[in-house]
Amino acid sequence: MAALLEMRGMVKVYGTLRANDGIDLDLFAGEILGLLGENGSGKSTLMKVLFGMVKADGGGIVFRGRELSGHHPGEAMALGIAMIHQHFMLVEAMTVLENIMLGWPQAGRLLKRQMIAEKIRDTSRRLGLDLDPDARVADLSLGKRQRVEILKAVLRDAELLILDEPTSNLAPAEIHDLLVILKRLRSEGKGIIFITHKMPEVIDVCDKVVVLRAGKVSGKAVVAQTDRAQLAEMMVGRDVTTPYAIKSPEKGPVRLAVHQLAAKGIGPLDFDVKGGEILAIAGVDGNGQLELAETLAGLRRADDGQISLDGHDITDTTPSSRTRNGLAYMPADRAMTALVKSMTIMENLMLRDVARPPYSAYGLLNRGPARKRAEALMQQFDIRAPSPLTRAGSLSGGNQQKIVIARELARQPAVLIAHQPTWGLDPGATRFVLERILALRDAGSAVIYISCELEEVLAIGDRVAVLAGGRLAGVVQREAVDMPQIGLWMSERAA
Ligand SMILES: Nc1ncnc2c1ncn2[C@@H]1O[C@H](COP(=O)(O)OP(=O)(O)OP(=O)(O)O)[C@@H](O)[C@H]1O
Ligand SMILES: [Mg+2]
Repeated sequence: MAALLEMRGMVKVYGTLRANDGIDLDLFAGEILGLLGENGSGKSTLMKVLFGMVKADGGGIVFRGRELSGHHPGEAMALGIAMIHQHFMLVEAMTVLENIMLGWPQAGRLLKRQMIAEKIRDTSRRLGLDLDPDARVADLSLGKRQRVEILKAVLRDAELLILDEPTSNLAPAEIHDLLVILKRLRSEGKGIIFITHKMPEVIDVCDKVVVLRAGKVSGKAVVAQTDRAQLAEMMVGRDVTTPYAIKSPEKGPVRLAVHQLAAKGIGPLDFDVKGGEILAIAGVDGNGQLELAETLAGLRRADDGQISLDGHDITDTTPSSRTRNGLAYMPADRAMTALVKSMTIMENLMLRDVARPPYSAYGLLNRGPARKRAEALMQQFDIRAPSPLTRAGSLSGGNQQKIVIARELARQPAVLIAHQPTWGLDPGATRFVLERILALRDAGSAVIYISCELEEVLAIGDRVAVLAGGRLAGVVQREAVDMPQIGLWMSERAA
């Protein structure tokens, strides 16, 4: 049987960087290929080349027996390639049906509205998408919006679906549903390329994997013949599955105290975190996680109650005043809210220090010291880019995240609020970040760690709580954690 897709010797060069350096890849119909690799190893670049968003500098692509070169996304789509983007290209104010019709050449002429609505219902039922053609996209969860994109691809007869980190901002139940949908697509004979950093997902759905490192293929495997540790090792070159060395240090005085805090979607909440302590908050995203993080950071107004930082009431202070007083915040959606893509890595790293000597003079960035510091942080946090003057937006997803993490951790904040800080990071970088957060705690900071990944919460939390339906359930010492109880709390009030 001929392959659905063959990529041979793919090369893509940015300046002196070989983002793709001679990559071969084959995919057959009815197969799910996991494309793995460290942050910046070239996965997204290879897929953009395949979809025609980026021009290759070398190599050849054959899809369904046809040579593809110099193509545009429109031509790729017409030939049966679909890319499900992470930030969906849907019009929120329109319905599912209207979004499906949008930009579809046949729609409206050959295919009438009624017929399309019928097709949507049929396909949705067949694949288990649970989509109503008349639902407004604005009212749909992220997982459902992603399914609209999948539906769009299937209705336009895509034979190959590319999904670049499709699970990284989904709740666990939605991840599970997506994986089921991918298996159904496979059984209908579609070819799928699936990018993820999460080994359990790979083991669940992928038939085979290709691992990239520094733009080259560093390993290939049939999933049934390998295991999680081996896969991680192929990616990172070392074993990252050993447990974290946790020794709880002496706890200091209370650094963050929250009393009867209420804001839209949360509360009333009562808790405190001491210096030298990590309070890990588990729970399904969408249960007040964002509201809690933003209220603590000062980006949302508290309707009631009190927040104090090192004994000072900060309830009504601005985000920048909180920052000056030692509060650091890593938002989950870093790429959108914490990073200025059009600025350089250096400028992004120095965002918090622009008004502080020696990095600023007369309100301007003092380039010499700033550059030295940026270089040091890039090295320390393994931010892979040609130079501190590279535009942040041209970095790989994971490397963009590392900029924000480096900036916030390097300040040695009194209190760190981290919301899904490892989202989009490869296993090596994830380990590194968690170890840095532990080191920050050991140095006396208080940390609030909000994550929907139970594994992480249990790995680093000194105390563990669950946020469900905007309220906190059971703040317990890690040693006392009872898994079934945690699961129950998580599902109790979960939306
Ligand atoms: N438009 C661009 N200009 C300059 N360099 C780029 C551009 N796009 C990507 N790169 C570089 O190419 C390399 C590969 O990036 P790519 O986005 O393909 O990585 P990735 O494997 O998808 O990583 P991640 O897991 O972090 O998403 C990175 O070093 C990145 O900085
Ligand atoms: Mg990527």
